[in-house]
Amino acid sequence: MRIGILSAGGDCPGINAAIRGVGKTAIVEYGMEVYGISNGFTGLITKDVVLMDEKQLSGILTYGGTILGTSRMKPFKHQDGDLVENKPQTIKQNYEELGLDALVCIGGNGTQKTAALLTKEGLNVIGIPKTIDNDVWGTDITFGFDSAVWIATEAIDRLHTTANSHKRVMVIELMGHTAGWISLYSGMASGGDIILLPEIPYDMNIVADVLLERYHVGKPYSIVVVAEGIMKSKKKSAGQEIAQQINKMTGLETRETILGYIQRGGSPSPFDRLLATNYGAHAAELISKKKFGYMVSMRDNKTTEVPLDEVGGRLKLVEPDNELIERGRHMGVCFGDKK
Ligand code: F6P
Repeated sequence: MRIGILSAGGDCPGINAAIRGVGKTAIVEYGMEVYGISNGFTGLITKDVVLMDEKQLSGILTYGGTILGTSRMKPFKHQDGDLVENKPQTIKQNYEELGLDALVCIGGNGTQKTAALLTKEGLNVIGIPKTIDNDVWGTDITFGFDSAVWIATEAIDRLHTTANSHKRVMVIELMGHTAGWISLYSGMASGGDIILLPEIPYDMNIVADVLLERYHVGKPYSIVVVAEGIMKSKKKSAGQEIAQQINKMTGLETRETILGYIQRGGSPSPFDRLLATNYGAHAAELISKKKFGYMVSMRDNKTTEVPLDEVGGRLKLVEPDNELIERGRHMGVCFGDKK
């Protein structure tokens, strides 16, 4: 069999581990031919592909980013400046001309949606979920998330000491445009005092009251963890906006930090390496069984798969009754909705 692998959407730690997992299993265990496709779905339109042997897949396990490159191009969505071209048709034609028997799409929500649509077009597709945001429906976890939580947690740990020295309120903005998983996990792991998530509407009066109460009982500093997606307005970043409002409403000296792309770069954590390897190997196994139209996933600590058409267009958000939120509330963490 001949398979193609691509990575699409925002990068994250662990993509290379997944490429290696698919490629090595496909070559070593199943004797398949493996083509790497450049820059997401763009490479399938421009036929930018390269035959990969096992040696090329060695030594990439620990690398961040993706050796294949990525892009946010969505073939089923017409974007400004596009040539008048039927991209799905071109992809289909190139898939056939390249003699591919299957296509592995490593990506987040958008990619899994495209993978589902390509399945409908008759292509043999397997999806592998990746994103630091951990918001792909149909899996308990995506790789990239654990690494991002490590980085964010370390950053917040470092803010604690400087906040304490200066008796300041430190606001840190973390990634998560729709889902607050990174903020919830790293906020709880680093002892954040206030954690604001896109899934829980917050009230600035409550945030200000909690900070003033902390100040008045002699707690010299506070850490406020904010997910980037808590505000729909794009005028200012959520971190800047919240820090400014806190300062205005409380008079407390406040600083903000926007962690940004540091969360997405660098080497994957051991957990993400293992998860990505597992997903990659499972994808190759599904292809060997000609079981197409699925996204590999993790459910209750077991590697499994879920139909792509169930995943496409859905998001896995933090439920307000999430156990970690409950635990936090019982320990005095404020989520912006109540004291
Ligand atoms: O990878 C997901 C994500 O990190 C989001 O949380 C963030 O909004 C987005 O990517 C930004 O990425 P880019 O600037 O590459 O579109």
